[in-house]
Amino acid sequence: MRLSVFKTHDELSRSAAGHIIQLVIAKPNAVLCLATGNTPGLTYKHVVELAKKDQVDFSRARIISLDEWVDIPRTNPGSCYSFLHEHIFAPLEIHHEQINFFNGQAVDLIAECQQIDKKIHEVDGIDLMVLGIGMNGHIGFNEPGVSNNLKAHVAELDDATRVVGKKYFSGEVELKRGITLGISQILAAKKIIMLANGSSKSDIVKRTLEEEISNFIPASFVLNHPNSFIFLDELAAEKLSQRPSVNP
Ligand code: PGA
Repeated sequence: MRLSVFKTHDELSRSAAGHIIQLVIAKPNAVLCLATGNTPGLTYKHVVELAKKDQVDFSRARIISLDEWVDIPRTNPGSCYSFLHEHIFAPLEIHHEQINFFNGQAVDLIAECQQIDKKIHEVDGIDLMVLGIGMNGHIGFNEPGVSNNLKAHVAELDDATRVVGKKYFSGEVELKRGITLGISQILAAKKIIMLANGSSKSDIVKRTLEEEISNFIPASFVLNHPNSFIFLDELAAEKLSQRPSVNP
């Protein structure tokens, strides 16, 4: 695991965007798995800008879903699909056939999990996984206490996730369950970039980096991945016992 601290969320995001762009240049049919949320949104803005400036071709890139809210229509602007559609798929003209996304409204959610498991196998694994860290240490919807052996599964959401998740929705919404890739699939990605910004994340960042690696802090498993990068801004890093130097 390599830890980098950047002065600002913008600098962190530019750097993360650079990794995504470099991968797609090197491997145009790369398989990307992208988190949603306020943390990675700025990374995707920079990906779009860089891709347009340098004419990077995303027409062969493939997308695998990380997670989705159960029972929320894909068309709801707060859904994970909608977020990525607005920030990445539409601006980069990534077409429907390139995307394999969880349908949180599927009648058979087990079959939905199985089809993503099968797809990951068919595409020979995920090349790059971009993750945020939830306030409770979740990655995707792998909530504290989750088994690290699971593949795609339906998760009962932690109370913290139910409350925090409301920020993505404009109307009243009841968030109970999520559908998510499992820890074993996240850790099988060839490369992971995990991002955190802002002082609200400083406690969970400290716990992730300084407490024992365990399923009580799912994000801590990323530390064991041989090709993982953790990118923080100065605010998210402010409570670390040993402050790493800030990237110039
Ligand atoms: P956030 O969400 O980026 O909106 O803080 C992170 C997460 O819950 O994964």
